[in-house]
Amino acid sequence: MPGSALCSVSGRRCLVIDMFLRRAVIVVGGSAAALFASVAVGKRDNDPVLPWTPIPTGSWNSNWDCREPASLIDPSKQKDLNEWESLLQKHTAKADRHIFLIRHGQYNKADHDHDRTLTEKGREQAKLTGKRLKSLDLQFKSIVYSSLTRTTETAEIISRRLPDVGNTPSSLLHEGHPIRPVPECEWQPEHYYFQAGPRIEAAFRKYIHRAEPEQTKDSYEIIVCHDNVIRYFVCRALQIPPDAWFRFELYHGSISKLVIYADGNVSLQMLGEAGYMPPDKLTGLPVFQVTTVSL
Ligand SMILES: *[C@@H]1O[C@H](CO)[C@@H](O)[C@H](O)[C@H]1NC(C)=O
Repeated sequence: MPGSALCSVSGRRCLVIDMFLRRAVIVVGGSAAALFASVAVGKRDNDPVLPWTPIPTGSWNSNWDCREPASLIDPSKQKDLNEWESLLQKHTAKADRHIFLIRHGQYNKADHDHDRTLTEKGREQAKLTGKRLKSLDLQFKSIVYSSLTRTTETAEIISRRLPDVGNTPSSLLHEGHPIRPVPECEWQPEHYYFQAGPRIEAAFRKYIHRAEPEQTKDSYEIIVCHDNVIRYFVCRALQIPPDAWFRFELYHGSISKLVIYADGNVSLQMLGEAGYMPPDKLTGLPVFQVTTVSL
């Protein structure tokens, strides 16, 4: 499993590399420069096309989850206008889904997943997040969690605060490299994306869509997963370029929240929210340091 080494590059180093490459391109000149530039942004002519994720067009695709009511009706079966209207009604979502995306707590770096357990601080972060979720006083419907060790532990700690909420593991939600990020800071071989990309996209299609037509009440659902997975989900749900995922950074244990309205509109209501944690508990950003400011 390729680890989360991808997240370890600081923004500053990325900028330095980018500036270096830009200057190099100017110096070399001509067609060699064009070749170098195309290598610099990580794209090559023979890269496989990535058909598993759509290229945003700039306009909103209201049938992004393939659940627009009209698209759920078999066209060969429709009869008259009345029947069409009633089928349309039958297939229309009636409720909103509020999806809380939780990043796992800080964990011990190790070669094997079973050794990647939460640190003491990571457990404290999970406790604070569980407490926060509990304090929102919402009727949570479910907890789905990535079955890797750090997310399983985080979900267990959150579950202690929400003992009545059922929880389910998922291997679709494992960490991975969803799509080659733009700008690219740390090169990874194509097969990382080729393998993990469709799996993370499958997770998106499974968990992020408007409510089933049978759902009558708004739901509040928790997904405990990973930095890259959450960032990719956010890009996909908002229909912004999915390769922009690396431009966000999320704290350990933080809460991001998407609302998917019954009509398929989507709203991001929180991204990496961790303001309920004291500053000395904040970790997870590549170059984050707490500094004491004295006035
Ligand atoms: C969804 O978006 C459309 C287009 O902007 C808008 O007309 C509609 O009111 C929105 N629905 C909700 C529930 O906000």
